[in-house]
Amino acid sequence: MEKIVSLCKRRGFVYPGSELYGGLNGTWDLGPLGSDLARNIKYEWWQSMVASREDVVGLNSSILHHTRVWEASGHIASFTDSLIECKKCHTRFREDQTPEKCNQCEGMEFTSPRQFNTMFKTHIGPVEESSSLLYLRPETAQGIFINYQNVLNSTRVNIPFGIAQVGKGFRNEITTGNFLFRVREFEMMELEFFIEPGTDKKWHEYWKENRLKWFINLGIRPENVKVVDLPKEDIAHYSKGTAELWYNWPFMGFGELEGIANRGDYDLTQHSKLSGRDLTYTDKSGNKYLPIVIEPSVGVGRAMLAFLVDAYTEAGDRIILKLHPKIAPFKVAVFPLLANKPDLVDKARAVYQHLKLELKIPTVWDDRGNIGKRYYAQDEIGTPWCVTVDFQTLSDATVTVRERDNAVQNRLPVSELDTYFTQKLK
Ligand code: GAP
Repeated sequence: MEKIVSLCKRRGFVYPGSELYGGLNGTWDLGPLGSDLARNIKYEWWQSMVASREDVVGLNSSILHHTRVWEASGHIASFTDSLIECKKCHTRFREDQTPEKCNQCEGMEFTSPRQFNTMFKTHIGPVEESSSLLYLRPETAQGIFINYQNVLNSTRVNIPFGIAQVGKGFRNEITTGNFLFRVREFEMMELEFFIEPGTDKKWHEYWKENRLKWFINLGIRPENVKVVDLPKEDIAHYSKGTAELWYNWPFMGFGELEGIANRGDYDLTQHSKLSGRDLTYTDKSGNKYLPIVIEPSVGVGRAMLAFLVDAYTEAGDRIILKLHPKIAPFKVAVFPLLANKPDLVDKARAVYQHLKLELKIPTVWDDRGNIGKRYYAQDEIGTPWCVTVDFQTLSDATVTVRERDNAVQNRLPVSELDTYFTQKLK
């Protein structure tokens, strides 16, 4: 993990949050490459969950909701962790993660547990009083439930259908750690899939398989990810049954990557009760019911960490980030063999601009150092292909295309690069 954290900082994937002022625990900033990687992950998720389907629509709700939303959802009463404190130095721990000795002062005595609500509080308007209290959302899901009826009334969806949303969530975690794994501010990708009661088993199985395949198709090694059904005592207050995708993390072995919960009709029942609005669904045959909800939900940062860990490879003294081309920040790098030969540079710039501006393939230019160093620098950030313009290019209009994962170089006519990369990126 230290190697990955250090690579991420050195190459501009992830920086510690507020580092200039000593850091802010549980926050990380995505650098130029990290923001591209995250954007690609979100794009692939949206393609798979919304754009390629006929039964899912998107939503972008506000982050701030009426406090009654969190009352209804049960988060005010139940979104808590059990917290204990070291009696000597007052360091706080989650009860289920308490060490035998305090890891700050070696103290052995702890207070008895008390419940700590992990929603961040803020105030709306200029006066900080109880009536202006608001919470930052700990999940995007409630934005979907409170708009469920709006979506039904304004679109042509019929059950079974889903509403998907990607956006920030905030949790005042007692303990953060393991880099992007557990943080206090993170983006979530959530789908609430509304179904007829009695069909939940079928749809739960469907989403477990669908989500597992998504990770594997984007390059996660199948042996490093699995579906696990959680025992009843480990599931959230709203859930009737939760499965998780577990990834084989370097710091803990297999553990949660994504949750796939059966929320039953819990949320719609609660919102009906507290809002006084009838949220029952009437199907084409006139049957009325509150739909059941299956919810695949994953953090962008946690998914990104799994992709980074799985892709990280050492070959001798080289690092290769074997990211799937679809999520790699750059797909292609273009080099002139020598930076001080104007003929080579002009030709290479033309290839670079064609790929980047006309084909719109994320392409990066590099003319620093020798060619070997440029290859290594691209391997380290996961660029799948490097195109080199050399002296032969000037006479026969061919270039070398080097593959990241096996370092094999092919000679291709410049005119064939379009088809070559478009095919590869399909
Ligand atoms: N709406 C369902 C929900 O919020 P969750 O299991 O609490 O369920 C869903 O969170 C996913 O969000 C997790 O599987 C994980 O990928 C991510 N996640 C949760 N807490 C996180 C945290 N503190 N830091 C980073 N990611 C987190």
